[in-house]
Amino acid sequence: MDRSEIIVKSPGRINLIGEHIDYNQGWVLPAAIDKHMFLTFRKNGSKNHCSIISDDFGETLSLNLEQLEKSDKGWHNYLIGVLFEIHERSAGLEGFECHIRSEIPVGSGVSSSAALECGFAFGLNSLFGLKLSNLELVQIGQSAEHRYVGTKCGIMDQFASVQGKAGHLIHLDCLTLDFEYIPMDLGDHCILLLNTNVAHDLATGAYNERRQECETSLDLLARTYGIEKSFREVRPHMLETVGTHLGIKAYKRCTYVIAEIARVSEAVKALKENDLKKLGELLYKTHEGLSILYEVSCPELDFLVRLAKSEPLILGARMMGGGFGGCTLNLIHKKAVPAFVERAKVAYESEFGNSLSHFQTVPGDGTALSQTS
Ligand code: GLA
Repeated sequence: MDRSEIIVKSPGRINLIGEHIDYNQGWVLPAAIDKHMFLTFRKNGSKNHCSIISDDFGETLSLNLEQLEKSDKGWHNYLIGVLFEIHERSAGLEGFECHIRSEIPVGSGVSSSAALECGFAFGLNSLFGLKLSNLELVQIGQSAEHRYVGTKCGIMDQFASVQGKAGHLIHLDCLTLDFEYIPMDLGDHCILLLNTNVAHDLATGAYNERRQECETSLDLLARTYGIEKSFREVRPHMLETVGTHLGIKAYKRCTYVIAEIARVSEAVKALKENDLKKLGELLYKTHEGLSILYEVSCPELDFLVRLAKSEPLILGARMMGGGFGGCTLNLIHKKAVPAFVERAKVAYESEFGNSLSHFQTVPGDGTALSQTS
């Protein structure tokens, strides 16, 4: 039997702009990052037995491929879900060992979950020669999250993790899955992430609730105006007319979605024209929308964005990812980073009694085989 091992390096992601837009038929602008999960795989010669060791959780998950039931432990379900999805598409899985180590902070909004799902699927695909395409790996990750974890996530995180390209953002059309790589050249500026260290739990319902609110509203808008069921077809006047039937909450959600879809195109234009000031303004507007209209921010994130606004060398900042915790993304002049981080740490800790962590990041390559773990 072949006992040779393979190592997979799977990145987290950032999203420059286009938040909560992937499941609303818009465009998003994510990138894989230069922080990874490392997964080492080896066949174990058995037909069905698998064991998966996670350094971060300090645990081993033992499984039989014939019995892929949901677990009551969160991290198990990402993996069991992936195995189930692969099983549905291919008959080639056999017993294996897998060891997982991560340098992506869990719960920080940079999608360690997509790195895990996609890295796991990618590794099994290579180990057993399953011939699944990149797009299938992306879909496997997303479906695992829907069916086993319970988060009805969009496709952005998995797509960015698998398709990332160093130095580039991915301008992804979430309806057709067409995409274009856009160089991210920020000159003297960089992307700084400030991690609130507040854990978000998308599965608890607020995320799924937003998705449901948008779907129900879109149904009504599409029926009323005879348009395709896509937010990209909805014009502001349609929302104004149907608004009273939607209820105030749903009206606010839709207002955000329509504005954010437009902001993504403006951001792409700003990037192509090297207009970082404009890009920064858009980031601040996105945060305002996420906080006031979409209501997925939290006091810690709002505090950090307010703080960013008081720093002239920051062009823009916003919460990133699903929300309710995680990171803010700051478009900041490189020379301002050390002093701002220091100031933010002191202010944040004195306000919330909680520590703030930070890291700078650049767009990296997508999930791939690696020589080292
Ligand atoms: C989470 C989901 C993504 C996306 C973002 C918000 O990260 O997994 O699909 O919806 O939230 O933009």
